[in-house]
Amino acid sequence: MVLSSYPTSSSKSKRNKLIFSDYDPILGVNLEPALWSVKYRPKTWSDFVGRESTINQLRFLAESSVFANMIFYGPSGTGKTAAAEVFSREILGESYNANFKILNIRDVWDIPVTKAKRSVQDLAKLERGQRSELEEYMSVVFREAKAARMARGRGGDPTRGELLSEAIRFYASTATVADEKVKILVLDEADALSSGMQQALRRTMELYSDTCRFILITPSLSGWSPAIISRCLTLNFSNPPDHIVQGFLDDIAKEEKVSIDEPALTAIARESQGDLRRAINLLQIASAASDTVTEDVVYEYSETPLITSVRSIVTLALDGQYPAARKEIRNLVAIDGYSPQEVCVEIERDLVKRPFSPPVLSKVLDRVAEIDYRLLQGKNAFVHLAALLASLRAIGADEL
Ligand SMILES: Nc1ncnc2c1ncn2[C@@H]1O[C@H](COP(=O)(O)OP(=O)(O)OP(=O)(O)O)[C@@H](O)[C@H]1O
Ligand SMILES: [Mg+2]
Repeated sequence: MVLSSYPTSSSKSKRNKLIFSDYDPILGVNLEPALWSVKYRPKTWSDFVGRESTINQLRFLAESSVFANMIFYGPSGTGKTAAAEVFSREILGESYNANFKILNIRDVWDIPVTKAKRSVQDLAKLERGQRSELEEYMSVVFREAKAARMARGRGGDPTRGELLSEAIRFYASTATVADEKVKILVLDEADALSSGMQQALRRTMELYSDTCRFILITPSLSGWSPAIISRCLTLNFSNPPDHIVQGFLDDIAKEEKVSIDEPALTAIARESQGDLRRAINLLQIASAASDTVTEDVVYEYSETPLITSVRSIVTLALDGQYPAARKEIRNLVAIDGYSPQEVCVEIERDLVKRPFSPPVLSKVLDRVAEIDYRLLQGKNAFVHLAALLASLRAIGADEL
């Protein structure tokens, strides 16, 4: 969890613990969501802030019950997944639980074949906490993919790519529940689909267009096949301006009875750069640490160990101290347990804050995007992160 990596002193850690415990082991029930970003997740259209035109368009589509396949694109923490949920709830009404599914493409891809291979009976023997809904789904998908291979005269287990394609096709191909006309399949983090998989997705979309609508969620439209884009309605989510973020935080602070001054609100808005999830998390962390949230408290808590380490790694790489940078990044992944993807995202965040000229920044970010893509395809993520560090010096160092 992102928040757990924030620094805590002993007195603070006691308070921070309260933030994370939304499960009461004695009562065995979930209490009110402990994370404010979950508690304040939009449940109706009026809960959304920023990008009014997109939300109004969605609201209108939901009211008219007519909709095509869609792509929601935009940066992190702008409400893409929440909007897909609210939209689907409005369209599907009571049959939402039966006819809605969300698949996170990276999560599906990360499930190893050996795990997917376990039978539903094997999974049933495990404790509830040891098996996820996705693992149960992938167990069924594995058998479908294996049968499809056999039908093509091929033996052996399905590949991870085949499992992913089947995970999408299987849900789309099964009948809707409760006599509904359509069901909705949301593919979150769909930018992780390779171009070959995009082709397979296009065929699935066409084949099951009568019964299944797709909502694809992705940070940007680049890398998407024009054949898919032309078949979807594209909706842009963007980072709201600082004054909107401040107003939003102010409302939450009042609701939670947090004492916060104007400069602190400005500081959170600036630090979170329009990412509302990050803004709410920052407000919650700062308010748990201090009775009155001031600008200083915000800055103290906006630095995570990951941000600090990545800053030092990028500086080392740009200074030409490649071996030291490589060693630090290995520690981050192998010892501290950060995922290569989150390290890559943090490197991108760090790079945009540095004073590169626009052409150089664009080259650097191009390279980051390439590595982000390769991280997904390659077996050894560390090799790609190390390659990114090596190229930073070559691309950017002349400017600094
Ligand atoms: N437009 C918004 N209005 C109000 N709250 C928002 C909005 N966008 C994000 N949030 C807050 O951030 C949290 C995360 O939102 P959501 O998961 O929809 O973001 P996302 O755009 O899908 O991000 P990511 O690309 O990282 O998956 C929500 O639970 C909510 O607390
Ligand atoms: Mg999302």
